[in-house]
Amino acid sequence: MADNRNREHWGGSLGFVLATAGSAIGLGNIWRFPYIAGQNGGGAFVLIYLAMALLIGLPVMLSEIVLGRRTQRNPIGAFRALNPPQCALARWIGIPLAVSGILVLLLGQWGWGILILGGGLLVLRKRWTVVGLLASAAAFMILSYYSVVGGWTLLYMGRAALGQLAFADVEAAKTAFGAAVTHPGQSILFHLLFMGLCVAVVFAGIRKGVERWAKILMPALFAMLVVLVLRALTLPGAMEGVRFFLAPDFSKITGRTFLVALGQMFFSMSLGMGAVIVYGSYLQKDVNLFRTSSAVIILDTLVALLAGLVIFPAVFAFGMEPTAGTGLVFQVLPTIFGQMNLGALWAFLFFALLMVAAWTSAISLLETIVSAAMDELGWARHKATLVSGGAIAALGLVSAVSIADWSRIEGLHRAVVALFTTAPDSFFDLMDAVTSNWMLTLGGLATCIFVGWIWGTQRAMEEIREGSGGIADAPWLSWAAGLHQDEHYSRELPGKLTLALLWGVFVRFVCPAAILLVFLNAIGALGG
Ligand code: PHE
Repeated sequence: MADNRNREHWGGSLGFVLATAGSAIGLGNIWRFPYIAGQNGGGAFVLIYLAMALLIGLPVMLSEIVLGRRTQRNPIGAFRALNPPQCALARWIGIPLAVSGILVLLLGQWGWGILILGGGLLVLRKRWTVVGLLASAAAFMILSYYSVVGGWTLLYMGRAALGQLAFADVEAAKTAFGAAVTHPGQSILFHLLFMGLCVAVVFAGIRKGVERWAKILMPALFAMLVVLVLRALTLPGAMEGVRFFLAPDFSKITGRTFLVALGQMFFSMSLGMGAVIVYGSYLQKDVNLFRTSSAVIILDTLVALLAGLVIFPAVFAFGMEPTAGTGLVFQVLPTIFGQMNLGALWAFLFFALLMVAAWTSAISLLETIVSAAMDELGWARHKATLVSGGAIAALGLVSAVSIADWSRIEGLHRAVVALFTTAPDSFFDLMDAVTSNWMLTLGGLATCIFVGWIWGTQRAMEEIREGSGGIADAPWLSWAAGLHQDEHYSRELPGKLTLALLWGVFVRFVCPAAILLVFLNAIGALGG
């Protein structure tokens, strides 16, 4: 597998950590996490989230990085390189899928029938390479609508700079937001601009593009965030908001809370769709994978927490509704900035923060597609970037237009309704639901099963050990106890608990089981 010598690599592990944290830190942290935590028990939810990040996010992130570094390939190539020539499990999945596809077709559900039958046949033919295909498709689809939202952050940044965000009340902010997103010309223009920014970075390659910009943008993001936290926490009445966000309310914790937390964690950590595999494929062998994956998890979680400490103190200080949910960022916050001293400055900082976060995430999505085009089709980076960037931008146009007025693209609208007998509010909503409910969870589940049972933890651990300086096999309680140099513990102890053992058990049992629960919940099988 060392035949990929020409592959570009990160300049150092800091570049990898910042770029991967850049992928993870995005709209999911700044916009979604705070309001979900606020609605689901505050500090109690945060505790559950922290546990999941550690117990599930970390093992899965490690698995994805290992797949990438071992194979030195994009997700499709990575799964193909490790694909077993025969696989009973793939047959056990493929045959029932194909059969149910035929049944669904017989029921007259053409769209679903063809999708399920096609999926089943593909699993039978390609086995685990299908996971890579699914991941790449997810990246393509997510970026197409993520970029539309990215465009809004760009638009709001511009408006803040021009002092146009000073709304008298939330109603006015709502009207302005509605006008912006239902005005396809404007929405499209900023979507294309945002895509252009991503293309520009990916075009320049890993070191000169992705890594260089991560090293500029991520420190800028942390700095802006700290300034905003300080501003928010010193507002009169800020503590009320901190309490809402962090005070544990255990009465709000139900079975469903765990599922919400896990789904949020997957999206926020960019897991289940190949971006981390791709970034891992640019890693050198001397990098400590335990250390780098923990750093990414910690940074992502920290930013989510700090974002909450910006938003809720401000919301409470100005007596706004904390449960506004999705409208919080584009409607409630601008109103608050409008009432603050130096409001335009804070608004600009906030939307610049949001835009940078979205940008570095979108870069990782584009890089996932570009690396696939380069490895699989043999294209040069420049061609791969321009062609895939163009194709994704084109699909994004459909999302942008569909928010303004679904019926404008009447043919497609009718085709979606007829093929899938569902009428989503817009193409944008369809893309969002299909990717996060289905594709990410399926991708994450398949990754765990593949690494845990098919490729095998044994081989994965050989790769993880490389560059990890013995940490995989250290009896870690002895580290915690400060006894790791103790003669007694430095020799093999039977039954000692090591990170390698813990990781293996988690990736084989705990993570797949937990993800399966989320998946069942997402498709409504648990009645949630
Ligand atoms: N993690 C990003 C966020 O929090 C979203 C994302 C998902 C980015 C999947 C890349 C891949 O917004």
